[in-house]
Amino acid sequence: MLHPNLNQNPPPIMEWSPDLNAWKIHSYQLVLSILSDPRFAVVGASNQKEQLSIPSNPLELASSNPVIIDAFQQELPWVRNKMHTAIDARCLSVLTKSNIDIYQDIILPCCQQLAIVLTDGGITQKEAPLLLDAAHELFLMNDTNEPLQAHVATTFLTNFFFDKLNHLSPQRQTDFINTLAQKTVSPAMLVAPLVQLFTGLATSLPLLLSNVMLALFTDDEARTQYLQSPPQSINELLRYAGPAQYVYRMALEDGSINDYAFKRGDRLALFLISANMDSLQFECPHQLQLKRPAVAQVSLGYGIHACLGAPLIRAALQIIPESILKHFPSIQLDMNSIQWGGSKGIQGVVRMNSL
Ligand code: HEM
Repeated sequence: MLHPNLNQNPPPIMEWSPDLNAWKIHSYQLVLSILSDPRFAVVGASNQKEQLSIPSNPLELASSNPVIIDAFQQELPWVRNKMHTAIDARCLSVLTKSNIDIYQDIILPCCQQLAIVLTDGGITQKEAPLLLDAAHELFLMNDTNEPLQAHVATTFLTNFFFDKLNHLSPQRQTDFINTLAQKTVSPAMLVAPLVQLFTGLATSLPLLLSNVMLALFTDDEARTQYLQSPPQSINELLRYAGPAQYVYRMALEDGSINDYAFKRGDRLALFLISANMDSLQFECPHQLQLKRPAVAQVSLGYGIHACLGAPLIRAALQIIPESILKHFPSIQLDMNSIQWGGSKGIQGVVRMNSL
């Protein structure tokens, strides 16, 4: 079952959207070219056409930091272990429940717990809901007409993790936050990645996982193939079920790309979801084919701004759906229960009941 935003007819390569105040770009090749081109800068949602300055979003600091990518790689076995523990415990806790909502009862609480565990086991029960609420505000940042709310949420999360980093206990050797701290000179460098990590795990990851579960529950062949080899299925699952709809760019100068002219200040919305379904790039793009030859999908972006959380997301895709399918081998979905939600930019299934 495909996202309702996708229809089977190919969209035009480029069209103006007054809603997004940007040129919508749907073609895989054009999206890829723009993502790889330094003449286009990352911008957020904006209604001000003339805005050319790049917003100073502290979260962007993370991308240029190889130290953090290194630490993510180094701690991957520890992370995988935590993922196994969290999802197995969650599945067991609802094993005897009738009418399970796969998203609300399993995926969302599991990802929220991972956000807490991976960023620091020391988050208290009182702090957790406040942090999760703030992460949700941040997730909705580009949708809201109340930028102050998102600002308050960012400040809250930033201060929280700054404080945690300044009070790390030297005894704790094995967790993620300590590995990061050992690799950097200043704790301040780690604040933005931790905020991003917490928010990404608690808000976007559940939507990706629920899209994947819907795809696997409704396709027997794909489910069997996935269970035979989760690692080989990851790329196609990301292509087919990626929750990121679009990312914004702004042209920094006049020019052209793939024969399309652009002007300095043009705002572009690169539709990752359409690029992933471009029939010029992918044969029968609306079919989930786990044995499809690997072609770079763009669900986690591409180029210098590609998603920093990619190694964690790939690990989650190998571990979490497998555990759910193994704990609930004969579950049938109530297709009438399926509800889509999320933000404008990141969307997925937010309700998925068993019969
Ligand atoms: C399933 C969950 C996630 C999805 C679908 C996702 C998707 C994306 C996409 C599409 C981009 C590219 C943005 C652009 O080109 O403008 C991106 C960037 C980014 N992601 Fe994720 N993300 C997820 C989770 C995470 C997690 C867990 C982290 C934690 C470290 C993270 C950290 C980042 C950062 C720091 C960037 C910005 C990179 C830059 O600007 O250079 N993401 N993500």
